[in-house]
Amino acid sequence: MQENDHTDAVDTYSRLFRLDGRKAVVVGAGSGIGRESALALAAHGATVVCADRDLKAATETASMGKEMSAYALDVLDGEAVARAAEELGAVDVLVFTAATNVRKHLLDYTTDEFDRVVSLNLRASFDLVRAFGRGMAERGRGSIIGFSSIRSVAVEPGQGVYAATKAGLVQLLRTAAAELGPSGVRVNAVAPGVVDTPLTAQIRSVPEWSDAYASKSALGRWSRPDELAGAVVYLASDASSFVTGSQLFVDGGWTAIDGRYTPPS
Ligand SMILES: NC(=O)c1ccc[n+]([C@@H]2O[C@H](COP(=O)([O-])OP(=O)(O)OC[C@H]3O[C@@H](n4cnc5c(N)ncnc54)[C@H](O)[C@@H]3O)[C@@H](O)[C@H]2O)c1
Repeated sequence: MQENDHTDAVDTYSRLFRLDGRKAVVVGAGSGIGRESALALAAHGATVVCADRDLKAATETASMGKEMSAYALDVLDGEAVARAAEELGAVDVLVFTAATNVRKHLLDYTTDEFDRVVSLNLRASFDLVRAFGRGMAERGRGSIIGFSSIRSVAVEPGQGVYAATKAGLVQLLRTAAAELGPSGVRVNAVAPGVVDTPLTAQIRSVPEWSDAYASKSALGRWSRPDELAGAVVYLASDASSFVTGSQLFVDGGWTAIDGRYTPPS
């Protein structure tokens, strides 16, 4: 390799995670991981639309960075999702984090609760992929990033319906990766471990439950929502140009170890 080639490579690598000139939409940007994802994408040069059912929260996120705007969107409304894809134009990156959980044993679950969790976590994800994926495929480029969970592969009592939606989401995204790959669109999932956000406030409020979760991971603690942002920037950018159909675990090692017992050394 000539010295010039190395200089070119260093120049290219220094921009590997840059998103200048790209437009990102983050659904769920009003809180938790979605807010941090939106801020991180903007910090890397993207123009970011902060979409959320809670417009006030989305506006607050948008006010925290440059080139950020807020957009009211309830993803439970399929027509509104289709309209958003039309209105927001040429989107390069779609991130969606909106999800819900009802923590109850299966025998205690009502049909309404089941429908509520499946509608948001799975059907709305399908609507988003369908609405935004079409335009990306037509333009021949794009990156779609959904949020699954460690619960897509490891369960515990009381997480059954949530876990089923997250496993289902991963298969939906893998299929989208297969179908949209030939058009230049990449589709991936990020699987967090336990993250301190409003979604997990119920767990944080019970010290025994909260501590048990902290000690289950290899790192021995909960994660902060900003610790998910790097995975989102990576999957949005050219740093992951050959990554599609994957699930990136950002779980502090939770799924690598079973955590029952540490034998004496
Ligand atoms: N927090 C964790 O420990 C954890 C662990 C594993 C996976 N995850 C996943 O990560 C993702 C983000 O979780 P979080 O903790 O940041 O959640 P969060 O509850 O903090 O934020 C969710 C956001 O989605 C928005 N939202 C809810 N319903 C909506 C709708 N119908 N339309 C549009 N927006 C809507 C909310 O207003 C909120 O701003 C979720 O998919 C979650 O399942 C979280």
